[in-house]
Amino acid sequence: MRTFKSYQCLQLLLGACVVLLSATIIPASSVYPVTVQLNDGSSCGLEVNLFLYSDLLVTMRPGKIPNGNYSCSLTVKGVYFIYPQVVKMRARFRSYSMNSSYRNQCEHGNNIQSIEIISPNGTGLPPFCGKIKPSGFFDLEQYAEIRVSSTRRYGHDSSIDAPQFDILITPIVIRSKLKSETCPTKDYIDCKLDDACLPRSLVCNGVDDCGNGVDETGCSSPHHDDYSSISIGEEVGIAAVCFVMFVIIVVVVLIFYRRYKRRISYQTINN
Ligand SMILES: *[C@@H]1O[C@H](CO)[C@@H](O)[C@H](O)[C@H]1NC(C)=O
Ligand SMILES: *[C@@H]1O[C@H](CO)[C@@H](O)[C@H](O)[C@H]1NC(C)=O
Ligand SMILES: *[C@@H]1O[C@H](CO)[C@@H](O)[C@H](O)[C@H]1NC(C)=O
Repeated sequence: MRTFKSYQCLQLLLGACVVLLSATIIPASSVYPVTVQLNDGSSCGLEVNLFLYSDLLVTMRPGKIPNGNYSCSLTVKGVYFIYPQVVKMRARFRSYSMNSSYRNQCEHGNNIQSIEIISPNGTGLPPFCGKIKPSGFFDLEQYAEIRVSSTRRYGHDSSIDAPQFDILITPIVIRSKLKSETCPTKDYIDCKLDDACLPRSLVCNGVDDCGNGVDETGCSSPHHDDYSSISIGEEVGIAAVCFVMFVIIVVVVLIFYRRYKRRISYQTINN
């Protein structure tokens, strides 16, 4: 009977820990876009989940990539618990540049350098190496891959300049696919652009998620349109802290439980 109680107690603590963990991550990541930098080599092959309350910035900054035979891709998966049928991930280039020596030599599968967005059934971007930034939105289904590659060598150097870009990926609800023709106003705002309803958690976060500034007008708090964000490392850190707290709580509970048991047996002896 008593062991059942302590087991229940452990369960409760575990539950509290999970709640605590998610509560720390959710507000943190809804403030800034979570940023993944692709020319930090460790991001190649990474799979990132995009939740309905958060946006994601995929960037590539000045740097070098290997010359030829290079491919680095990041997979983004939409994870939605509400409206799974009507949510899309919408991608938009905020900046783009490529060394002019590598541009316009971009025949499919034989490029010096290109950037590509692959999304089954969505609006992808075929291998691109143009001069100006791709315009408009890319409506991705719930799975997309952003890939930078170089299949043809340029000159004799072992590395070449990396392309630079900044792609913002935002989850949106498609208004016309809802049963009502308006956005569910409590949790979403109407972007008044391309049928998009934006989760309210992304309003006034310092990032133009709608693409026309609607979600960033009339905000009282100062904007933070920088690239700081909670990184995957920090999330791991939070999880680690939570785990340590959990272990401490378990130890304390066990100590008290043993004392309690000892007192019970002492009382039994005395009686
Ligand atoms: C790329 O890989 C192929 C086969 O793996 C190889 O034949 C070719 O020499 C490589 N090219 C460069 C530029 O490394
Ligand atoms: C572009 O790349 C070439 C060859 O890698 C290099 O010589 C040149 O300096 C680069 N141009 C710029 C503007 O960085
Ligand atoms: C793409 O659409 C086809 C038919 O419309 C469907 O069978 C398939 O499952 C879809 N694929 C994805 C990845 O959504």
